[in-house]
Amino acid sequence: MYDFKPDTPLASADLYRELAAAAEALTAGEPDGVANMANAAALLWEFLPELNWAGFYRVAPAKDGAGEELVLGPFVGRPACIRIPFGRGVCGAAAQSRATQLVADVHAFPGHIACDAASASELVVPVLRDGAVIAVIDLDSPRPARFTEEDAAGIEALAALLAPRI
Ligand code: SME
Repeated sequence: MYDFKPDTPLASADLYRELAAAAEALTAGEPDGVANMANAAALLWEFLPELNWAGFYRVAPAKDGAGEELVLGPFVGRPACIRIPFGRGVCGAAAQSRATQLVADVHAFPGHIACDAASASELVVPVLRDGAVIAVIDLDSPRPARFTEEDAAGIEALAALLAPRI
């Protein structure tokens, strides 16, 4: 087992610098995308306080073979909805728009999918490869307005690091 958790609470910039360094160390040279997403989800859970869900949805073929949708990937948290069409909920909005979704109050977000009733705020960052969305990183918190622009920037940097490795 690896011990990558910070010993003391860190200021946001330091926290994301350490998180990126840990993600780099754990995924460098490993070609298996599932393993890399699993370790990245574990790191998010270890590093970021006040989360109740941290993980990935991947862009994958729809069950009926017609087009693509988001499909549940490696995560830490309670069991979650498996398939999310593009455009639905916060994850679907991030995938469709290719833009980070920082949602202070999920109950006010049109079409929000409540996988865990404890979730109050959410940050979803698309993972882009060659300009196309290949996955999203989804973070949920039980505290309203838990996520800041600094969190968004830190997770976007992580998404860029992981894009060629998942
Ligand atoms: N709340 C999300 C669905 C995924 S779960 O939170 C894990 C959404 O509306 O996209």
